[in-house]
Amino acid sequence: MTPPPGSLLAAEDLHKTYGPTKALDGAEFSIHPGEVVAVMGPSGSGKSTLLHCLAGIVVPDSGSITYDGRELATMSDAQRSALRRSEFGFVFQFGQLVPELTCVENVALPLRLNGTSRKEAERAALTWLERLEVDDLAKKRPGEVSGGQGQRVAVARALVTRPRVLFADEPTGALDSLNGERVMELLTDAARSTNAAVVLVTHEARVAAYSDREIVVRDGRSRDMERIV
Ligand SMILES: Nc1ncnc2c1ncn2[C@@H]1O[C@H](COP(=O)(O)OP(=O)(O)OP(=O)(O)O)[C@@H](O)[C@H]1O
Ligand SMILES: [Mg+2]
Repeated sequence: MTPPPGSLLAAEDLHKTYGPTKALDGAEFSIHPGEVVAVMGPSGSGKSTLLHCLAGIVVPDSGSITYDGRELATMSDAQRSALRRSEFGFVFQFGQLVPELTCVENVALPLRLNGTSRKEAERAALTWLERLEVDDLAKKRPGEVSGGQGQRVAVARALVTRPRVLFADEPTGALDSLNGERVMELLTDAARSTNAAVVLVTHEARVAAYSDREIVVRDGRSRDMERIV
């Protein structure tokens, strides 16, 4: 199938079942470079499943996903994981930082795994911690920082490789509204500064307000929602 013109990542007619559960039942999606799209919908509607399919983590039963003109289904597992490492970034509800590493080491980790020297990786990591306004925490371990601070570190880690798509699944779900809004401000500013597209799963309208466009998933089906301004 042909993705919408100009889209970086697009999906058509995705189906995914888990036993009797239809997690996705004809879902569609598309995003342009630099665009921030919020994926909304009630619990269990298929938002995370859609994100995992788009990111090549879960393989749908049927349907088409194209990234930068390439059909994900035609790629091997190794090619898909290389794509995730080099072109995608991830932020989840609970930062999932490595507890034994300091904040700067956590942010440097994706670069280290790509073969960057320690010195260079930590220098880049520090720049990203500064952008997220948590550079004073560089030497602390995740257990010694607050939830909001940890999420800022997680955003820095997701963007340090300059991904073309940032996948964020309820990135502020564990934060109070003030911290949540600050993280969203910093996340969207940082993503826009690198022209990364952002797939933002949330069920909070306040968080979705940071997007350019919203889509709603219900019972595994998605549709565009005209923004009510
Ligand atoms: N690995 C799995 N095994 C079995 N069922 C699953 C699995 N992943 C998702 N499901 C089911 O698929 C449906 C969609 O789940 P999904 O996690 O995509 O929902 P969601 O919209 O992200 O919900 P939430 O807002 O609670 O995170 C649910 O009924 C869920 O129980
Ligand atoms: Mg979910």
